[in-house]
Amino acid sequence: MALDIVIMAAGKGTRMRSARPKVLHQLAGRSLLQHVLRTAVDLGADGIVAITGHGADEVEAAVAAAHLRFARQMPQLGTGHAVQQAVPLLHAEGTTLILNGDVPLIEVATARALIEACGGDRLALLTAELDDPSGYGRIVRGDPAGRSTNEGGRVHAIVEDKDASPAERAIREVYTGVMAAPTAQLKRWLAALKNDNRQGEYYLTDVVAMAVADGLAVVTAQAGSETEVLGVNSPVQLAELERRYQRRQAVALMEAGVRLADPARFDLRGELHCGADVEIDVNCVFEGRVELGDAVRIGANCMIRNAVIAAGAVIHPFTHIDGDTLGVRVGAGALIGPFARLRPGAVLAEDVHIGNFVEVKNSTLAKGAKANHLAYLGDATVGERVNFGAGSITANYDGANKHRTVIGADVHVGSNCVLVAPITLGDGATIGGGSTIAKQAPAGQLTVARAKQVSLAGWRRPVKIKKK
Ligand code: UD1
Ligand code: CA
Repeated sequence: MALDIVIMAAGKGTRMRSARPKVLHQLAGRSLLQHVLRTAVDLGADGIVAITGHGADEVEAAVAAAHLRFARQMPQLGTGHAVQQAVPLLHAEGTTLILNGDVPLIEVATARALIEACGGDRLALLTAELDDPSGYGRIVRGDPAGRSTNEGGRVHAIVEDKDASPAERAIREVYTGVMAAPTAQLKRWLAALKNDNRQGEYYLTDVVAMAVADGLAVVTAQAGSETEVLGVNSPVQLAELERRYQRRQAVALMEAGVRLADPARFDLRGELHCGADVEIDVNCVFEGRVELGDAVRIGANCMIRNAVIAAGAVIHPFTHIDGDTLGVRVGAGALIGPFARLRPGAVLAEDVHIGNFVEVKNSTLAKGAKANHLAYLGDATVGERVNFGAGSITANYDGANKHRTVIGADVHVGSNCVLVAPITLGDGATIGGGSTIAKQAPAGQLTVARAKQVSLAGWRRPVKIKKK
């Protein structure tokens, strides 16, 4: 039996008060729509259709993928009208699962249970009991002819918040925006929708009353948690959902043994893989894919993106690590920061020390190399046990091209040196402080390149001229 998934993502999201289409707002580093798409893909659908409209070009460009088709809804006349646009792309038979582009955290198991509840011949609604149901469509149970707020009993309609009577508003069971329907019947119902309601929209939720009229069973399934079914309509709701999501990730990490100083001050916008006995202090942000080996310690206020940090390394507070597409590797036992910056292609071997206000980009540092204060290493290959002095830099860019600096093992670069690349410093070379080095420095020798020091005997300081 064919499974089609329709994701509604055409609405403007007026309450976000943003130029960006709502479904492209970010939750934990991915757009709301990407979250829903991942779930759709994991469900193994035979077809996935996203309904786009408001900001369609932007939305389609942001999520384009081989398995995904788009149907445009212009203008946007409501959720029922949205699903109508997908009709030509759906199979003739089977089940259609409808997901809401602004309900990002729905889980695969929950959606599967709903598809099962539908079974190809029932209308299955995902519902939830909310403490504050305002804004949501209410599930109306009971006798359609009589009392409509009966608890328990058969579902006979969904009534939108704006159209609800005071009694209906009191219902706490809400429609989450997710349903599974027999495709053939759904197509018929969609064709018969009307827009005679407070908002003048074609409501998808009106198919419930149609199913009841057709004598089809309307069944409900509950989500595993409230977080799964919360919709995002405003910046406040987006931030609340972000916190819940972060809390969930933090708890999963702590349950796996990671020690977070404070789960409320932890942000993961991607994947974090941790060994045993990892400790993470407050206010750290992890993005992309980050691996932390056994006993790694991350100090407060670090930002780490696309990096692999090996066992026992310590990242002191306020360090910024961004591997971007090249990645960053920090070797076992390395000490980084505070206030260090590791950029794409920084590859540090075991026991490397990178101290405060040191920037490393596209450079390899061999075991035990140190740059402890105020330095820049860009496009460099640095040998074992090198000591790179305070204030020294590689001048890797001539204004047009980047050039490499090769520093042999056991080199000592004094303070405030400029190494003009391309250049090689031989093993064991010593570079005198304050030197600008533009030619090769031989192994084992002291190389100094600075003006000779002079002292002028009998020189006098100027004195202030007194006015009469
Ligand atoms: C909808 C449901 C409501 C449910 C709630 C759950 C309807 C009529 N109401 O209300 O019962 O409790 O979701 O979150 O379905 N969209 C389009 N085209 C349109 C209008 C909307 O694609 O013309 C998309 C939006 O981008 C959004 C989704 O449909 O992703 C829901 O639209 P929204 O306006 O947020 O509906 P709600 O008022 O939240
Ligand atoms: Ca909504």
